[in-house]
Amino acid sequence: MPASPIRKLVPYAENAKKKGIKVYHLNIGQPDIETPPAALDAVRHSDFRVLEYSHSAGNETYRRKLAAYYEGIGINVDHTQILITTGGSEAIFFGMMSCLDAGDEVIVPEPFYANYNGFAVEAGITIVPVTSGIDTGFALPSIADFEKKITPRTRAVIICNPNNPTGYLYRREELETLADIVKKHNLYLFSDEAYREFCYDGSHTSALQLPGIEQNVLLMDTISKRYSACGARIGALVTKNRQVLDTALKFAQARLSPPSFGQIAGEAALDLPHDYFDATKAEYKLRRDTLVKRLNGIPGVVCPNPGGAFYAMAKLPVKNADHFCQWLLESFSYENQTVMLAPASGFYSTPGLGMDEVRLAYVLNTDAINKAMDCLEKALEQYRG
Ligand SMILES: Cc1ncc(COP(=O)(O)O)c(C=O)c1O
Repeated sequence: MPASPIRKLVPYAENAKKKGIKVYHLNIGQPDIETPPAALDAVRHSDFRVLEYSHSAGNETYRRKLAAYYEGIGINVDHTQILITTGGSEAIFFGMMSCLDAGDEVIVPEPFYANYNGFAVEAGITIVPVTSGIDTGFALPSIADFEKKITPRTRAVIICNPNNPTGYLYRREELETLADIVKKHNLYLFSDEAYREFCYDGSHTSALQLPGIEQNVLLMDTISKRYSACGARIGALVTKNRQVLDTALKFAQARLSPPSFGQIAGEAALDLPHDYFDATKAEYKLRRDTLVKRLNGIPGVVCPNPGGAFYAMAKLPVKNADHFCQWLLESFSYENQTVMLAPASGFYSTPGLGMDEVRLAYVLNTDAINKAMDCLEKALEQYRG
């Protein structure tokens, strides 16, 4: 199993903290936004005598409300096409296990969410990267680039929209181009839409809204980021493909049921007013604008403006970002503070790529982001010196 590139520097951060240094965590997508009180209250006020297994596909009341939520955002599904999972993580895993055999190949634009590697190892499948670059702001690679990667063993494409780690928001035309490839080669399209609600420049198109590939699409969803409820461990696998659903349900039955309390929180969150996301989105947008402006103001740093999610990728004037990120925690502090970043190499599958890039998660308030950027600016001066 590959180690998580996001967590491997944790011992260095712990040591820095032991020395009394304040560490700004821009390395991990753990939002600081409060979980909606209504969701937590629903759990607090739940009244069980027996905390039973739920239905393997998830509570029907929850699935029906979730179907109404999807309907409301233009995704036309009913509750029988939704399987509640233990986080989006399990939805990705069930998708891979249900559609792919060991040895099958899956094309993924890199850099990508590093845990796809772990799920691929578990499922015995091979990830084939198609590279997107910082120069184009991590736009979807061209059809020609995708087609070069297709072999007789290719079965699926995975996209994450808006993207973790790049923050790139795919335009409808890009997705339609991708749909053509999917159709032409009869592939599955796994669409990880964990950050759907957080789009700042332009609107979100779901893969399930693309005409002509309805039977090919598996949507992987989660409440972790949407409601700042990572610990609820609630996600969903959504597809119109009955055969895939039937198979995924067998995997769901093997693990018995998704978490009961999490489903209660998820169901209650669906009653939040429509404008609930406005404030959260405005806050993330402010943070993005602050972070991107500060990064591009540091000599030698390049950061494309991400259209969604809460991540940005930046190119730093260093040769080895892994070393620099470790050095930030081990050997540097400014006014007794430092910053923790995720080296980008772990998000690429092609060896040697992303060596001078880092991913930053803007999950801290603007004051903290500014202080973290002060640290980064000073650190780069000192490191390069
Ligand atoms: C792109 C993406 N997909 C899926 C997940 C999994 O989330 P969870 O299992 O908490 O729903 C994450 C978590 O960070 C993510 O960033």
